[in-house]
Amino acid sequence: MANMVVVGSQWGDEGKGKVVDLLTAGSDLVVRFQGGNNAGHTLVVDGRQFIFHIVPSGILYEDKKCLIGNGLVVDPAVLLEEIKNLNTAGISITPKRLSLSEKAHIIMPYHQALDLAREKYKGETKLGTTGRGIGPCYEDKVARTGIRAIDLTEPDTLEEKIRVALEEKNFLLEKFLNAQPLETSPILKAYLSYGETLAPFITDVSLEIDDAVKADKQILFEGAQGTHLDVDHGTYPFVTSSNPVAGTACAGAGIGPGYLDHVVGIVKAYTTRVGAGPFVTELDDEIGNHIQERGREFGATTGRRRRCGWLDLVVVRDSVRLNGLNSLAITKLDILGGIANLKMCVGYDMAGKRMDQRPASLKKTGLCTPIYEEMPGWDGDISQARNLDQLPPEAVNYLRFIEDFTGVPISIVSVGPGRDETIVVKYPS
Ligand code: GDP
Ligand code: IMO
Ligand code: MG
Repeated sequence: MANMVVVGSQWGDEGKGKVVDLLTAGSDLVVRFQGGNNAGHTLVVDGRQFIFHIVPSGILYEDKKCLIGNGLVVDPAVLLEEIKNLNTAGISITPKRLSLSEKAHIIMPYHQALDLAREKYKGETKLGTTGRGIGPCYEDKVARTGIRAIDLTEPDTLEEKIRVALEEKNFLLEKFLNAQPLETSPILKAYLSYGETLAPFITDVSLEIDDAVKADKQILFEGAQGTHLDVDHGTYPFVTSSNPVAGTACAGAGIGPGYLDHVVGIVKAYTTRVGAGPFVTELDDEIGNHIQERGREFGATTGRRRRCGWLDLVVVRDSVRLNGLNSLAITKLDILGGIANLKMCVGYDMAGKRMDQRPASLKKTGLCTPIYEEMPGWDGDISQARNLDQLPPEAVNYLRFIEDFTGVPISIVSVGPGRDETIVVKYPS
């Protein structure tokens, strides 16, 4: 067994939730380490669908502990709603099953107001954020003016921080962004109440992980978003405001890199992206529509239609390097059934020059067109396959091509949204 990190290799929504749920069976602790409720992780277990935005995707297992690390930005109202919904669904959430890091940053109403007002102000040039206040909250963290979970339990600290923050935020909202200003007292009242309810869950998550490591327990780190949405390595500025790469599991949970044994990169069998930004293999045609409809590619957080395109192996190979991927989990292979001729992008043509990596410059990326490898598709439903021998040879060929191109073995193939609709080629260890 191993301590594993699960990360998205594309632009998010690769199926991380499903794979984390699956791998939780062999783990003791599941830890989210970055992002916030911009994430939407979908699990389908025994025909029931769950979508988690903040709560780690291991929560359905009664005997496992889920931790929300210091690297997250947490909207307490959303977290409490998720806890309430789980309780209603008969999954009782107590501090025995869930912890929130005292150092996690808290999304405040002014963060969301700024996110929405800035997008409106940008108009055509907007980023297409989820509008959840993620960027402004991370900005305050780095500016050292943020509010942390522990502050929710100290009324005087909280009041002072909100008051000081609003002096600046209201100026921006009113004078620059043409938006409504906010008042301290209703925010203080609501957030003190969240603090009271959440207090039993607020702990030092790093210490909990350290205890688990000493007791030889298995830890699973759950990434959110995807490598190409990374604020450093992604398609900047069309990225999120955190680092979804595997290395963040350390800083965002409070653990040293020596404890990480295996990084699983989740790769959707084609590519999707929500929001604006470059997408070299995007399909603006019948096939793109077909994949979007068949794959039900709507955002799990905002309900927006996801843009769809062929699998971009340039993007995936960058992710192999940036995350040190040990194995790949290929998801949604079933969606490609029935397409006669499949394509995978193996390089970019940038105005006549072959590129093996995505250029950092947006302008240059805009000049790139995909160089495709074509291969025959397959017909029929593959969702019943439970080992590679039960797949059509063309589907196996598609998978082998990915392995050969990236140089990384496939550990898991997902052929449907359900927990059981999975081929475990080799359990990650
Ligand atoms: P995440 O953000 O990476 O956890 O992914 P999302 O949950 O946002 O989006 C993945 C969607 O695909 C969800 O609706 C999953 O239920 C679904 N899904 C995951 N794996 C498969 C698969 O192998 N086949 C099909 N058809 N759906 C899948
Ligand atoms: P999961 O974990 C897909 C995208 C947004 C937008 C950009 C910035 O479900 O894979 P933000 O609100 O973070 O400032 O928006 O990032 N984005 C995601 N796209 N999946 C996600 O999470 C995403 N989280 C953020 O659409 O383009
Ligand atoms: Mg998602």
